[in-house]
Amino acid sequence: MVVNVTKICCIGAGYVGGPTCAVIALKCPQIQVTIVDLNKARIDAWNSPDFQLPIYEPGLEDVVRKARGRNLFFSTDVDKAIQEADLIFVSVNTPTKKAGVGAGFAADLNYVELATRQIARVANSSKIVVEKSTVPCRTAESMRTILEANSKPNVRFDILSNPEFLAEGTAINDLFAPDRVLIGSLQSAEGKAACAALTNVYANWVPKERILNVGLWSSELSKLAANAMLAQRISSINALSAICEATGANIDEVANAVGYDSRVGPKFLKASVGFGGSCFQKDILNLVYLSESLHLPEVAAYWRQVVDMNEYQKRRFSQTVVDTLFNTITGKRIAVLGFAFKADTGDTRESAAITLIKNFHSERALINVYDPKVEHAQIWQDLTEVVPGSTAESLKKTITISPSALEACKNVEAVIIATEWSEFKTIDWQKVYDGMNKPAFVFDGRLLVDAEKLRKIGFKVTTIGRGE
Ligand code: NAD
Ligand code: UGA
Repeated sequence: MVVNVTKICCIGAGYVGGPTCAVIALKCPQIQVTIVDLNKARIDAWNSPDFQLPIYEPGLEDVVRKARGRNLFFSTDVDKAIQEADLIFVSVNTPTKKAGVGAGFAADLNYVELATRQIARVANSSKIVVEKSTVPCRTAESMRTILEANSKPNVRFDILSNPEFLAEGTAINDLFAPDRVLIGSLQSAEGKAACAALTNVYANWVPKERILNVGLWSSELSKLAANAMLAQRISSINALSAICEATGANIDEVANAVGYDSRVGPKFLKASVGFGGSCFQKDILNLVYLSESLHLPEVAAYWRQVVDMNEYQKRRFSQTVVDTLFNTITGKRIAVLGFAFKADTGDTRESAAITLIKNFHSERALINVYDPKVEHAQIWQDLTEVVPGSTAESLKKTITISPSALEACKNVEAVIIATEWSEFKTIDWQKVYDGMNKPAFVFDGRLLVDAEKLRKIGFKVTTIGRGE
């Protein structure tokens, strides 16, 4: 029998659970959606009267304004939401393990397991449990074992995998019009019925032909595969950017020419100072670990190289800055524009800017940082994590957070563009130039600015992937 879903609980009110389930609530006014989290501050922010939401995402506030209090609720009462729901999304964090077997590679499934055990403990009616977090292949099986071993009499659990493909910064558009929604289930009658129940939820706004029903393990692996292949494109183009710099070719022209081939396609071929974000590196390392566990060392080495290339790109860019500034940046003041891992998000997880600042700091440079969206406390937290033995106070001796891009660039020797915020394109570069020490260097790690225009002003411009 296909359950008619009327109440949804989402465990985890983060970058995925929050926007995804807010959009479900908006598009399905007949379904009550409760998003829960252990983190009270996060839930308070989701509930804040002036909509100071815990994450910045274009269009999100509008969705929450329309649905909150109608059929969308945010709460710390996890047990109650579990008990009431027919369908539960598990959308908790799955970071890379820091200790124990697989440390540095494998996914830490502790949060998934704790949420699963909590569902088993408190549920007093049958539930469809949906794995939304990105997890290694066959995690659904572990979840099922835990749920079945701990369930009450007459309570059954059906497990689905429904990985999320949204990208930060475009999350709301991605959720409104997804390329596809992937739902993995057991191929049993019960599994297919659970799959149909979730399919019916998405069918409220997603065309049926875009909702793909596959086996559980294919669904789990497809998520890791999608991220690995996207990251691989960036590492490929970044590898080519090094060849461009050495030969005088132009990486934008190369990417454009290659991307015109409809088999390759034009998207996701922008050379950069390196990819960041909470997932690409984590998910590839997860795939590497999985391949090694399956005794497939060549497969593991292949995917590992995508991450190695990304590390190389960040190192190479930092080194170019030092080399160009006459082989030393000790005591020199540098502006780093952008701290988020990409534009239109306040998220800094694995941001390339963190590595760059760490490298410049180790060369004893003085650094001004500016980002339009990232909280100052977040910047200090990220930097203290990567500079051994440091505190925010100790870092403040050499690193300053500036209130604007123009302010950050005053009296510096060099400006580094680390995030592709559009405001860096339109700042008054003449004013920047006038306020800088000369020669005035710009290092564009995002192919963002018009290098020729800047050269006319007098800047010495170095751009990723362009040999001059
Ligand atoms: P996040 O850290 O922003 O949010 C996870 C939330 O889960 C946290 O607020 C945490 O407090 C909460 N949580 C953990 N255990 C809990 C429990 N037992 N009960 C209640 N709350 C609990 O993480 P995220 O970025 O939303 O990512 C979640 C998952 O989605 C990860 O597996 C990630 O790989 C995947 N994913 C992320 C993105 C993205 O763009 N960030 C996109 C697709 C998939
Ligand atoms: C990525 C995927 O795009 C999503 O499909 C996926 O759901 C998500 O990971 C996830 O699983 O977390 P996200 O990390 O939010 O989304 O952002 P992307 O737009 O993919 O950018 C990732 C990084 O690659 C950024 O640092 C970005 O600047 C960089 N990038 C992206 C490039 O350097 N060049 C490009 O051409 C594209």
